[in-house]
Amino acid sequence: MATKQQGGMIDLLVQDYKGVKKLHVVLVPGANIIGGKNGAGKSSGVDAFANIFGGKKLTPSKPVREGAKGFRLQVVLEQQGITIARIGKIGENGKLRESLVITDAEGFQASSPQQLLDRLLGGHPITPEAFSELKAADQIGLLRQVTGLDFTQLDGEYQALYQKRHDIGIEMKNLQGQISKMPTVPEGTPNEPVSTSEITEQIKDGEANNRANADIRMAAAAKEREAEDAKATVGNLVEELKLARERRDLAIEEAKFARAAAGKLTDVDLDDLFQMRDDASEINQAVYVKQQRQAAEKALAKAQRAHKKAQDQMTAISEEKTATLSEAEMPVPGMSFDAEMVYLNGIPLEQCSQAERLTANVQMGLAAHAHSGAKLPPYILVREASLYDAEHLELLDEIARANGAYVLAERTMNTKEQAETEGAVVFLEDGIGLACGSDG
Ligand SMILES: Nc1ncnc2c1ncn2[C@@H]1O[C@H](COP(=O)(O)OP(=O)(O)OP(=O)(O)O)[C@@H](O)[C@H]1O
Ligand SMILES: [Mg+2]
Repeated sequence: MATKQQGGMIDLLVQDYKGVKKLHVVLVPGANIIGGKNGAGKSSGVDAFANIFGGKKLTPSKPVREGAKGFRLQVVLEQQGITIARIGKIGENGKLRESLVITDAEGFQASSPQQLLDRLLGGHPITPEAFSELKAADQIGLLRQVTGLDFTQLDGEYQALYQKRHDIGIEMKNLQGQISKMPTVPEGTPNEPVSTSEITEQIKDGEANNRANADIRMAAAAKEREAEDAKATVGNLVEELKLARERRDLAIEEAKFARAAAGKLTDVDLDDLFQMRDDASEINQAVYVKQQRQAAEKALAKAQRAHKKAQDQMTAISEEKTATLSEAEMPVPGMSFDAEMVYLNGIPLEQCSQAERLTANVQMGLAAHAHSGAKLPPYILVREASLYDAEHLELLDEIARANGAYVLAERTMNTKEQAETEGAVVFLEDGIGLACGSDG
């Protein structure tokens, strides 16, 4: 059994899991390097550790080592005084049956071990994928969680404004289309329609006046005829001559007055009024178009103002988000993010060196753990520790120890001697863990 140093130890046992026959190693806070040649079983060992905590969803499709009847994965958490064992057995039907057993220092078994484990992990399961391997959107989501920057409300407002601006844009297009189809209005068209009812009143009065005049003219004509008749009968009607003469004189007199009165009459020129009425309906047609145009132009101006306002508000939200992000305290020194991407010292994370990304992954793992309600210390997997030089390995160890984190780091190496020199906790050879260190 391999130990690196004392204190807060985790005793890890892996049996017949993937490429591992037997791996028994003690892990301590810091970088626990698992060494071995390619194919020796290093990843199998790291996966086993993750599988214990991560549950069935991390169990691979063929977890039991070829030729074995089952696997056993076990950790004894010294500090917590509990033992967690995940056991897989291949049944008669060839199917795998998995069980989880958690016992305390006295050997009492937990009745709901998975629930207990979930509670201990506090929503911070061991993630098989490193932070830098996640999709940009998931990286940003995790960073938001960890930094507590929640833009749900701002994003909602932005979305609503986007929709509003879009709708106004359509309304503006409609109004512009309507205006372009309206005929142009002749210059000098009044703003209000001309009243034809007034002119119609005048026409009615004129007609009444002219009818009265016609009556008077007819009466005058009748008087003239009467005078003619009287003159004709004068000769024959001697007895009535005097009377007739008087009547004649009277009629002549009356006729004279009537003629004089008729001569003074003036007719209203109805043609002008008819023309005015015709003109008015033409003008009013133009007035109607002018009013429609003015209303549409007013609506367009209003829509343009609303469009600009929505745009300004959207810009303000974007600026607010940028400002909040630039002021936020980041879990990884030099890390920043915007809506699209995560950066390290201003360089997109995906363009950073592998060592830079590895370190960022570890720091993110620590931050996510700190943010969760985990009751267990942080467990972090570094699958590509071969990419680290000695200085970075040292840095990794320092960061892990400073945070009480157990880092399981897989590193390719050729000999057990090399593993000893590099301070590995175990050297794997053909699926068997060979202890390294002073007591190995
Ligand atoms: N269920 C299984 N039974 C037997 N062998 C398996 C099983 N699953 C995986 N293996 C084998 O175990 C071996 C070790 O694989 P593992 O990924 O652990 O190696 P590694 O030491 O991490 O290698 P590398 O340095 O290339 O990453 C591989 O040859 C793999 O094919
Ligand atoms: Mg590997």
